[in-house]
Amino acid sequence: MSDTAPQKTADGQAPAEEQAPSDGHGASIELENLTKKYPGSPQPAVDNVSMEIKAGETVIFVGPSGCGKSTTLKMINRLIEPSGGRIRIGGEDVTDIDPVKLRRKVGYAIQSAGLFPHMTVAQNIALVPKMIGWSRARIASRVEELLDLVGLDPGEFHGRYPRQLSGGQQQRVGVARALAADPPVLLMDEPFGAVDPITRDHLQDELIRLQHELHKTIVFVTHDFDEAIKLGDRIAVLRERSHIAQFDTPEAILTNPADDFVSGFVGAGAALKRLNLTRVRDVGITDYPTVTVDTPLQEIFLLLRSSGTNEILLLDRRRRPYKWLRRGDLMRARGSLARAGTLVHDTVTRDATLRDALEAVLTDNAGRVAVTGRRGEYEGVVDMETLMNSVHELLEADRLDAMEHRHDLEEIRAAQTHAEQEGGAGGQKA
Ligand SMILES: Nc1ncnc2c1ncn2[C@@H]1O[C@H](COP(=O)(O)OP(=O)(O)OP(=O)(O)O)[C@@H](O)[C@H]1O
Ligand SMILES: [Mg+2]
Repeated sequence: MSDTAPQKTADGQAPAEEQAPSDGHGASIELENLTKKYPGSPQPAVDNVSMEIKAGETVIFVGPSGCGKSTTLKMINRLIEPSGGRIRIGGEDVTDIDPVKLRRKVGYAIQSAGLFPHMTVAQNIALVPKMIGWSRARIASRVEELLDLVGLDPGEFHGRYPRQLSGGQQQRVGVARALAADPPVLLMDEPFGAVDPITRDHLQDELIRLQHELHKTIVFVTHDFDEAIKLGDRIAVLRERSHIAQFDTPEAILTNPADDFVSGFVGAGAALKRLNLTRVRDVGITDYPTVTVDTPLQEIFLLLRSSGTNEILLLDRRRRPYKWLRRGDLMRARGSLARAGTLVHDTVTRDATLRDALEAVLTDNAGRVAVTGRRGEYEGVVDMETLMNSVHELLEADRLDAMEHRHDLEEIRAAQTHAEQEGGAGGQKA
């Protein structure tokens, strides 16, 4: 589209994407000296911000309340008009194009979902496709596809109104709506701010899974640094007027914060936060003896007796983890599956962090947690020992890194002192 498309790419496939940003994959975003001065305010809310976000990258904005995160985000899709500077998406300057045209490129999901209460779920999702003139048939099939994608049964949820949904379900519809016209760029302003921590965990996992499939360019605002670590390829820590304090990978920010302002944001417990950087898919998932509620009792007895573990996992008819069954449980329940065993309270997906997994192991009190797929179906288990070993290795590696870093610094300092004592001929300053 534009002959000014930049050369730099997120990965090998990007150039094609940048020429055709509406093919659904991510497009790069460049902010150049972006500024917003609200009428009547003495200071700009966003002051001269420049930033490059690569195609397919997830970038998180964190920063104190009022520092200009939402204003910056809203300027990217021109919900707020900039007072100065340029915005380029996929290399194309969009600072002055028709905002309606921009909606095709940029999906937007906001806090508390922002669904229209008088419209059904399907109508809410169909908003942008309708606006840009898709046929009814195309819209209808897209709505079904999206509901499925965000884990809501199309038949069940299609015709409901937002007030008939839980907070988490509303958020999912909000994400589906933002994805509707398959835009290369997705802006999300504290999209999971209004839900409870467990639902938020699941929505975060879902976003990670979606991103594996879709490769959008995502700019995501949050107050929650843990959320930033979990979701971000890079994190921009912003101070007042959207000035960038540090823009780097989660690892770099955690292990090497630029200054006290950034350290303040990272907060206490950096070692524990490190657990947010490793996912269940990176540690060993093992298979486990399972039966379903339809397995004949005799077989369950046999398996309980013959399996090396003293426990098996009972799955429901849709193969979702249901109960942990120990030897003796069936005896005590006089052969009744309905009464036997301990309910599975928490499960994790492969995208969950080690921290989530540890938490689940501790709450379920079974020494292990079941790992599930997209529809909650059983995929394996992760046990406490595997988790503890990974945590141990992780912290040990960090400790070695830190020691090496300190050693390097000491050597530099020693060399400097030496040079100064020799008469400071090099003119180096400590
Ligand atoms: N429409 C407006 N008119 C005037 N000033 C505004 C307007 N919207 C926001 N501001 C001011 O601009 C600054 C940045 O606001 P913004 O909403 O971008 O902050 P934020 O970083 O998103 O904060 P929060 O984390 O609380 O959502 C604030 O000082 C705010 O008061
Ligand atoms: Mg805000």
